[in-house]
Amino acid sequence: MRDLVEPVATGMGHVLSSIGIDNLDPRSIIGDATDKSHGDLAVPFHRFSGVLKRSPVDIADEAAEILAPYLVGIANVSSKAGYVNFRASPGWVSSRLVDICRHPTLGVEKASQRTVVVDYSSPNIAKEMHVGHLRSTVIGDSLVRIFEAKGNRVIRENHVGDWGTPFGMLIERLEDLDSDGIDPVEALSDLGQFYRECRIKFDEDENFRQRARERVVSLQAGDGPTLQRWSQLVDISMGHFQEVYELLGVLLTRDDVMGESKYDPLLPGLVEQLHEKGILETNNGALVIYPGDWVNRDGDPLPLIIRKSDGGYNYATTDLACISDRTKRLNADDLIYVVGTEQKQHFEMVFASARKGGLIEDRHTATHVSFGLVLGPDGGKLKSRSGEAIRLLDLLNEAIERASVAVLERNPDISKEDLKILARSIGIGAVKYSDLKSDRTKDYIFDWDKMLSFEGETGPYIQYAHARINSILNKERHSQGGTEVTSFDLASEHEMKLAREVLKYPEAVDHALADLAPSRICKHLHKMSQAFGSFYENCPVLTENKEIRDQRIELCRITGRILEHGLNMLGMDAPSRM
Ligand code: ARG
Repeated sequence: MRDLVEPVATGMGHVLSSIGIDNLDPRSIIGDATDKSHGDLAVPFHRFSGVLKRSPVDIADEAAEILAPYLVGIANVSSKAGYVNFRASPGWVSSRLVDICRHPTLGVEKASQRTVVVDYSSPNIAKEMHVGHLRSTVIGDSLVRIFEAKGNRVIRENHVGDWGTPFGMLIERLEDLDSDGIDPVEALSDLGQFYRECRIKFDEDENFRQRARERVVSLQAGDGPTLQRWSQLVDISMGHFQEVYELLGVLLTRDDVMGESKYDPLLPGLVEQLHEKGILETNNGALVIYPGDWVNRDGDPLPLIIRKSDGGYNYATTDLACISDRTKRLNADDLIYVVGTEQKQHFEMVFASARKGGLIEDRHTATHVSFGLVLGPDGGKLKSRSGEAIRLLDLLNEAIERASVAVLERNPDISKEDLKILARSIGIGAVKYSDLKSDRTKDYIFDWDKMLSFEGETGPYIQYAHARINSILNKERHSQGGTEVTSFDLASEHEMKLAREVLKYPEAVDHALADLAPSRICKHLHKMSQAFGSFYENCPVLTENKEIRDQRIELCRITGRILEHGLNMLGMDAPSRM
């Protein structure tokens, strides 16, 4: 209950000076009540017991007495076991509720105007996207939406791996298949298989290996036919990725693609710049930076290799050029990288090097938004039934198919078209929610039955709460129109509980942004849906008493609007019926 903090802080200021504590910001000791049955906010007084030589209970009792007059009509004040608890008063909740109902973005203020570059998805050309890319895509897309909702200018960047030595073998392979009369689109229809075959050929065939090496040289030299083949590879692969993006309903488009190749021409200049800064050192013929305290297995300082002894550049070099491009050309304030935890050290070293080299200045932030693995039900790597790595497109289609079965069970008469749309919303929503709801830094187990259940902390459960509200509102539309609600009675505890959850939504969005954790919104929507469930069970909406009915309908409406807004922050659909 963020809005309650200020009035409580004012009262607490008087308490602190009256009991003789100076130089303490009262806000620093006001927290959420751990036991919600005691209040919304609480202040513990135990820490003052020693200095004041009084028992915490005694101090809290006195504090409560001092506080009460300051919070009349705002919160009820009580003291218990050395704590003072504050419970928002019904009148205060009612007026906040009216405010939020009238607020065009439901209390979510556009408070920040920074330029934020979000690097996400970033698969590799001519390779199958894996579940790590799915996580990056889903988490990154949600963060983009949250940043935007808070008023920031957001630039999406898909840092696809489209450059480097593997392209020699990939291009040669495509040449060979083409001269065997196989259409490149056909050859690349299964990226996983194409890549595997390339590797085998590369490992087994000396002649092919040699050609691949020469091909890399031609590619670097900008040879026309080689570049043509290369862009064919990129185009066809991007087509596959775009298919996944469209099915997922994420914001990424072709215009957001900013692959590694784009930075290649900038690398010599970058090296020059780092050299001028005096931070490059030579190490066995390579140019390196020692960015800080990283050490290798033997305990020796670990360098970031900028230019290899053969003159080639590294993944890290590209990332440094990319940082410079983002801070200079795009004028970014904040750099966000949504990439798996296994690249933690890479980003730490790159960021430290960039700071040393002046590519990132004090006014910039650079953050690696890392995430854990997706595990199969057995706790091992997630695999398909036949034991291979799962193709994302297959995984998403399976989600839709499974959702389709569930929808048909509930609505046997649904039309074919409606079924298709609904199954996609629910299936994709379920996958996204199950990914977003957990602490992103942890691994999670991919469990079809759990994620598609209409009960529990799942996407369908929240979407269903929204759809149910929609049907209640539809029913009401057929009876006589309501008048504008200017205050809420909130007489039932169930109404009150729901109202409190509604008020806390803007806070949940802010927490999600502060922690770069969409899970904060997931948790909140789940709590709100639960509160709605018990409200709906216990408080008949379409009652005889017109005033109560209007208020309850308004409470349903605001809950529905917030669910829709929140689902949108997660990149999920909010179907109007289910
Ligand atoms: N293509 C890389 C991979 O699949 C991810 C790139 C992440 N972004 C970056 N700027 N390094 O592992």
